[in-house]
Amino acid sequence: MRQDEIWDTETAQEYDTPGTGMFAPEVLGPTVDRLAGLAGGGRALEFAIGTGRVAVPLAERGVAVSGIELSRPMIERLRTKADAAAIPVVEGDMATATVPGPFQLVYLVYNTISNLLTQDEQVECFRNAARHLSPGGRFVVELGVPDLRRLPPGQEAVVFGSEDGYIGLDTYDVLRQRMVSHHFRFGGTGTRARVGRSPHRYIWPAELDLMGRLAGFELESRHADWEGAPFTAESGSHVSVYRLPR
Ligand SMILES: C[S@@+](CC[C@H](N)C(=O)[O-])C[C@H]1O[C@@H](n2cnc3c(N)ncnc32)[C@H](O)[C@@H]1O
Repeated sequence: MRQDEIWDTETAQEYDTPGTGMFAPEVLGPTVDRLAGLAGGGRALEFAIGTGRVAVPLAERGVAVSGIELSRPMIERLRTKADAAAIPVVEGDMATATVPGPFQLVYLVYNTISNLLTQDEQVECFRNAARHLSPGGRFVVELGVPDLRRLPPGQEAVVFGSEDGYIGLDTYDVLRQRMVSHHFRFGGTGTRARVGRSPHRYIWPAELDLMGRLAGFELESRHADWEGAPFTAESGSHVSVYRLPR
């Protein structure tokens, strides 16, 4: 399934959950605080800007934000919140598309680098970030740590979420370093469930750092969250900041 088929009109309409989930103030507040600090008064570019979950509040903080986004329906949803003068967006692939710059900060959040399904594309994404940055500029990546410790030999699927009306499970292809997340939603009195799927190429932190080096970056910091909690062997995700030489 292609990314533009996944991020279709229906998904774009349902993406925003104002005030809850990934839109909850306790999630978005620290994200925007940290990104505003890292922008340091300069311009910011969001790869895979989506409906502007992060970009809109960041722009409201006074940071000049631009975006790249593959899905037209996601851009149209963003346009209900901010026009092209407030947040310019180029429709295209974050591994190759170009936005007039330069920028002090490029950021790519919510595991979205794993939506690029080959190592080559992921490396190109780092290179594209580097091309958009001024000397000393930063590329911030928020990404989950592959959860393979929960996958016993011979088993291919792991349930990562189970609550009223929802079951989420990941299926793994460890040979190709791929994973598909399946989201089953059901409810009411009917027996029908809706399933949404998204394919990913998962990346180990060390591999991510090597991609950064290939593009000319050094790892400046890695934390377990946006508030700066220490990254440990038990961390489920990380916020990694890569920096170009001055
Ligand atoms: C999980 S959403 C994240 C959106 C937004 N960054 C956020 O934090 O809410 C993933 C987004 O990545 C976009 N996307 C996937 N592959 C892409 C690519 N190669 N280039 C640009 N955007 C892409 C999708 O269309 C979708 O809008």
